[in-house]
This record gives sequence, structure tokens and C-alpha cells, in this order.
Amino acid sequence: MKNIIFIVASILAVSCSSKYQETVNSDDDYQIIPKPKELNIAKGRFLINSKTKIICVKSLAQEAGYLSKILNTTLGVDLTIDSSANKNGNIKLELNHTIANREGYTLSVEYDAIIISGKTATGIFYGIQSLLQLLPIKIENGDNDAIEITIPAVEINDSPRYAYRGMHLDVGRHFFSVASVKRYIDLIAMHKMNTFHWHLTEDQGWRIEIKKYPKLTEVGGFRKGTAVGLAGTRNAPYTYDDIKYGGFYTQEEIKEVVAYAGARHITVIPEIELPGHSSAALAAYPQFGNTKGPYEVAKRWGIFNETFAPTEETFAFLEDVLSEVMALFPSKFIHIGGDEVLKKEWEESAYAQEVIKREGLKDENELQSYFIRRIEKFLNANDRTIIGWDEILEGGIAPNATIMSWRGIEGGIAAAKQHHTVIMTPGTHCYFDYYQVGGEEQKKEALTGSKRYTSVEKVYSYEPTPSVLTPEEKKYILGAQGNVWTEYMPSWDLVEYNVLPRMTALSEVVWSSKKNRNWEDFRMRLQHIVIRYEALGYNYAKHSIDKQ
Ligand code: ACM
Repeated sequence: MKNIIFIVASILAVSCSSKYQETVNSDDDYQIIPKPKELNIAKGRFLINSKTKIICVKSLAQEAGYLSKILNTTLGVDLTIDSSANKNGNIKLELNHTIANREGYTLSVEYDAIIISGKTATGIFYGIQSLLQLLPIKIENGDNDAIEITIPAVEINDSPRYAYRGMHLDVGRHFFSVASVKRYIDLIAMHKMNTFHWHLTEDQGWRIEIKKYPKLTEVGGFRKGTAVGLAGTRNAPYTYDDIKYGGFYTQEEIKEVVAYAGARHITVIPEIELPGHSSAALAAYPQFGNTKGPYEVAKRWGIFNETFAPTEETFAFLEDVLSEVMALFPSKFIHIGGDEVLKKEWEESAYAQEVIKREGLKDENELQSYFIRRIEKFLNANDRTIIGWDEILEGGIAPNATIMSWRGIEGGIAAAKQHHTVIMTPGTHCYFDYYQVGGEEQKKEALTGSKRYTSVEKVYSYEPTPSVLTPEEKKYILGAQGNVWTEYMPSWDLVEYNVLPRMTALSEVVWSSKKNRNWEDFRMRLQHIVIRYEALGYNYAKHSIDKQ
């Protein structure tokens, strides 16, 4: 009996959808970002209603649940997830080991079936992202009076150009809630990016609970005020608002974020800044500084003289901190900062000078390398790999380090030539805290730290692999990342405004092949994706949209 009901239901579903068999679709129906490798449009539409099932093996239940939850916002029901139903009238998720790229997928939509195939669950997740962009906009805004929705027929064969596709977020200068961080992760997922670089410690705030050192967050998590207006190194004297500001994530919250990201096939890379950008840590534990303090959690932006002292006590402290960090983050990469380390304190510290002598080091740059190598050795012994900002090249690169090239592309080139892996984040194209427009137009914008600007078009023009590298060296470029420094972003709304649609442009840079990228074509598709942002309630900048 059960079988008969099932057969009748299947026939009904297929015959119901057959009225869409001959529908002719328009190009407007296929506006996917990042642009897929191959996309062939076809006649017909697939109908989804409350009877549609998602068919998959148990190991894909998470991806099926993710899709079902999103469809629920419109259909008002969870679709049945079934491992054995017939594909006719249904959505099938299947693993296919013949797909070459571990993040690759194929998406086949016909009037009577949808099949998403991936070499891994990650590929299938990206197939789902493409499927979602083919759905009507009401899917995003919870317009749940729809009882059926249709999807245009298509054959997509897709895979990413780069293995590393990241977005960074500084929660040190301004602190953002777990709910906001999850919205950020949703954006990363929507753009088929795979890494969230979480910048968790800064001079202006230590944001991650460390059980062994509670003062890191009790003291280091809060500053006594924040400088008003432009407040970088060159802007003294400052005025402060004298309002206590801060916050931190408990370990439980960190686990929640890591799990949320993991369910969206996103790795979270934590960054613990050392040996500089450490004022907040030193305010909590002055014994690990060169001068022993007193220190305070920084209230202005810029760079600071305060650094960790290269003592055995400091290394033991940092190893304790990193042990708790490793227990929270499964990521192979741990980012250890290494940028903007002023050497004044080491120059003036008898102890630091003794270490330079003892270790046979040439100068403070080599002392920085010694510091980083010690940390690298500890992390490598725990099966982790360090990423450092490009300054860690200066006194000699640590043996297994990956370089994040931010002061232009030179650091990335130098590292690739030394056969170190590289993530490109040059300020010119990948700093999303810069203005999005130049000249007089900047007066209409919220304040940022300088007059520099990076338009969406400029981001889109970025080519992460430097042409000066040999084919062999080019293999060391893992990908690129957008960085979001939040000195001048006191509200979450401003973060979204700065990120969108620049990250949308970057997502295509890191996913789509160079020959498949075209600014005018992208700009047309951008018109569609921003409607999706609006439906999801995201704030975004309109400069590149209004230009149509
Ligand atoms: C950086 O922007 N200081 C990495």
C-alpha cells in the first residue's frame, strides 16, 4: 500500500511539473555569482512544492537539512529527506568521485529532477549555493505564502580557481555579536568562499576567553574610552569619549561559531597577534612585557611600542594561550600576526639584547624571526601551520610559514620564490576598510582612516597570481582574502556596507577563471544579487549599482 501511495504521489508530482516542460527561460534567470565555469541554459522549469523530496545518503544529511531549511522560509514546511526515493520530481544530492576538484560540483536542473553532484559534501554545498541563486527572490525574504516555486533548467559544471578564498574580520577595534558574525559567515558561504579569518586580539581589545588567563578578557577585553575622529599614529593630540567599551567571546560562543561555519564548509582561522599589537594582553599580564608596565588597553588606533618580551615566561604563556586556541579551532592554519612590530622596546631592553647575543642574532628583525620560529615550532609540533603577515619575512622566514601579503604584493612574490605558500591580501585591492569612492564623494561617506579608496571595479580587476612568478612559483599562491579592519566601523551596519559588494567582486576573482571574468557582465549580475542582499536585510554600498 505504501508503495502504491508513493508511486501515485510521484506520478502526480511529475505530471504537475510537466506543465513547465516547455517553458522558455531568459538569460535573466541565470545570474550566478561567482560565475560558474560552464553554464548551459535549457528549456523547462523544475517545480518545488511541499511534496518535493531531497534524496541523499546519510553522510549528506547536513547539506540536505541546510537546503530544506532555506526552502522552508518560502514553502513553510521542511521537505522530506529520504535516502531511497526515486529522483523523479525530487532533488537529488549525490557524491561523484569522478569529479576532479574536491570543491567542484555539477548541477543539473531538468523539468522533472534536480541533481547536484560533488566529489565531496563541500562541492555539493556549492551546488546548493548555485541552486539558491536560481530561486526566486522570495526564497530569501520569508514570503511564505508561496506554495510552489520553479527553477529554470540548466546544466552547470563548476569548480574554483583558488583553494583559499577568504574574508577577514577585525573584532579587536570594534566588537561584534555572535549573531553578526554568523551573518558574516552566511555571506562567506553565499559567495562560495571557504575561510573566515577571525582577528581576535588587538591593542584595543582581547576578544577570546582563555580559561588559564581570565584577565585577558576581564581586563584586556575592555578599554576606558575610544578616540574620537581620525585617531591614527599621526593625528595626536587625541580626544577620547571616555566611554568604557569592549566585549569578548566565551569559549562556548567560539565553539558555536566554529560549528556554524563548519556546517557551511568554512574553516575559521583564529589570529592571535604577537609579538606586537599586544597592548591589551599586556594590560592584563604586564609581566610578559619588556617594561613590565603599567600598560593600558589602547584607546586610539595606529601602532604601538608595546611588544611581548622574548622571555621563557612569555613563551610559556603564549603556548598556554595557543593550546586553548587549538582546542577550539580545528583549522590547520593558526594566524600569529607578526605585523607592525616596533622594535624600540627590544632595542632598549637589556634582556632582549641578551637574547640577541645568546642566539647569535644580527638585530631586532632577527629577534622577531626567532620569536616567530619558537611559536612555529610549538604549533608545528601540534600539527598546525602558521600564517603570518608579510613582515615575518624580514629577519628570515620561519621554515613552514605561510605568508599573508598585505603591504602590496612584494611579500607574496618573495615568499613564493622561497617556496612558501602565500595568501594575497594587498591593501590596494583587498582592504575593504578603504573608501569605496574617491574625491568629493568621500564627504558623503562615513569616516575612514585615510583618503585611499578601492572601488568594486578595482577589486574585480585584481589578479592574485603575480605575472613575474614562474609557473612553478605560481603554485604557491593559495588564493586571496578581503580584509576588514574596523577602526572606523563602530556599527555592524557599517561592516556590511564596507564589505558589500566588494566581497562579491572578490568572490569571483578567487573562484572564476580569469578568462571567464568580465566587468560589464559582472555588473549586470550584481544587479540581481543585491536584490538578494536586500531580501536578506544586508546593508550594501550602491556606488557600482547606481552607475547603470
Ligand atoms: C595589517 O594591515 N596591519 C596587516
